[in-house]
Amino acid sequence: MHPLAQRLHDDHRRLTQVLGVLEAQIDRLARAEDVDFDLMLDAMTYITEFPNRLHHPVEDVLFARLAASDPGAADACQAQIAEHQRLFHDSAAFYNLLEAVQMDDATLMRDRLVDAGREFIAAQRAHLLREERELLPRAEQQLRDADWDIAAGTASVVSDPLDGTATPARYQALYEAICTAH
Ligand SMILES: [Fe+2]
Ligand SMILES: [Fe+2]
Repeated sequence: MHPLAQRLHDDHRRLTQVLGVLEAQIDRLARAEDVDFDLMLDAMTYITEFPNRLHHPVEDVLFARLAASDPGAADACQAQIAEHQRLFHDSAAFYNLLEAVQMDDATLMRDRLVDAGREFIAAQRAHLLREERELLPRAEQQLRDADWDIAAGTASVVSDPLDGTATPARYQALYEAICTAH
């Protein structure tokens, strides 16, 4: 497997864990239990800083090359690239809603947050599944190492704070929540 393919799979695994932490909080909110808003905001900041800013742009390059070399996959690739933009905006909107509910804890706002949270998590999971089941296997079949190298060349060398190799100062609480969930 090309190192970039491995990196993308690893990113997906960590994002899945973060979505699990977020979902556990949304479930608590739905049961009218206390929730950790700071933890949810950390999860959303992580999603903005890592998947949205560092992972999606690399996939955009990879999927554009797949679309060019495999016409049968072109529509799916273009849709996935467009969805990266949508997920970026959805993340910002959900972050703002979280902050608003943290400041004004009205029941109606909490209900809206539960619905928006579930919708956000479902959209993220559907996006990940499409890549894990369809697009990445197809890219691994169809693209040559040179294509993967070009996409990898656009990737910033940043170590993910949740990969367990460094103490994630900024995301300590999120990291601990992931560890205790397993
Ligand atoms: Fe993606
Ligand atoms: Fe992805």
